[in-house]
Amino acid sequence: MADSMPLDVLSRWVHVGTAIVILGGSVFLRFVLIPAAEGLPEDEHQALRDRLLARWRRFVFAGIALFLLSGLYNYLAVSLPRHRGDGLYHGLMGLKILLALAVFFLASALAGRSKAFEGIRRANRNWLSVTLVLGFAIVALSGFLKVARPGASPPPASSAPSSAEPPGTPSAEPLG
Ligand code: HEM
Repeated sequence: MADSMPLDVLSRWVHVGTAIVILGGSVFLRFVLIPAAEGLPEDEHQALRDRLLARWRRFVFAGIALFLLSGLYNYLAVSLPRHRGDGLYHGLMGLKILLALAVFFLASALAGRSKAFEGIRRANRNWLSVTLVLGFAIVALSGFLKVARPGASPPPASSAPSSAEPPGTPSAEPLG
């Protein structure tokens, strides 16, 4: 087992866990909460929206930080050594990272307070749908890379033969 295995596993848990929370929360917002809140009187609707976004934006900004930290670790420490020279893998991973940056921009604009993106928030149904399509495309691409391009498995932590041969190991002494 490679020495970095515990951190590799933790980074993948954080990465996939963040995907579950951010995509799951966005599906709830788009298909449950927004339609349900539609019939409310405008002042109540606005009050709910402000209270909700004040909480959700913390998840979004923490999620972006965790995606970037665990994603960069996954890529630089785990995937790069296993996919040397695999142009298709790195090309598709590059596409995935570009799509992720688009998701980060839209999620920040939708949950943020900047006046510049008020237009995006007014059309939140449509832009949330676009964000979800991109998000699930990223998950699909990541799963494809995992299965179709697994790469070379890392050498075991201590591949050098240990001096203390286990008892009963036939010695390598030349016969005669
Ligand atoms: C919206 C943002 C993102 C989502 C939803 C996402 C989702 C995922 C998922 C579900 C996996 C696991 C795939 C599997 O094992 O089947 C994964 C793996 C991975 N992600 Fe992300 N990710 C995102 C952003 C990023 C970013 C920004 C980076 C790099 C900076 C990144 C780098 C990686 C790497 C290197 C792997 C491992 C791929 C492999 O096993 O070959 N991800 N991602």
